[in-house]
Amino acid sequence: MKKIHLSLIVLVSIIFFNCSKDKGPVDDNQQAENVSFANDVQPIFDQNCTSCHPSSGNLDLTSANSYSQLVNVDASGFSGKRVVPGDADHSVLFKKIDGSGAYGSNMPLGGSLSATQIATIKQWIDEGANNN
Ligand code: HEC
Repeated sequence: MKKIHLSLIVLVSIIFFNCSKDKGPVDDNQQAENVSFANDVQPIFDQNCTSCHPSSGNLDLTSANSYSQLVNVDASGFSGKRVVPGDADHSVLFKKIDGSGAYGSNMPLGGSLSATQIATIKQWIDEGANNN
């Protein structure tokens, strides 16, 4: 009788543990793991950059063209790639928004992005600059 009791407790614990474990990864994903280019990065461009960047700096950041203008593309005004997948610190795009002044004026010209927006773009590049 005691044995059955114990097995039941063990069984219930296993079920409970598995359920709470299942919830884990979902919550983690919501913490901005895997930044989406379309859903997280492009809206930053739309709100802060496209007024000047259908063409400024020979760079078009409108949604139809931004990805193909950035990833593995040489910057027009500087030596370096606009976006080096997996390496934000060597990407002109990131160094133009991080306040470093490494490539002249900070973007958006005359202003700056929020720390969260800067972190989102950095994370997107460091995760491999996927077209996701
Ligand atoms: C008020 C106009 C203006 C806004 C807004 C603006 N830019 Fe620029 N941007 C320019 C000009 C002008 C240049 C060329 C001079 C330079 O490189 O500083 C430029 C150059 C750049 C370059 C270098 C391109 C190259 O290949 O040489 C990048 C990258 C860039 N901008 C990113 C951005 C991003 C990202 C945003 C939004 C967060 C943004 N810009 C907002 C005017 C603007």
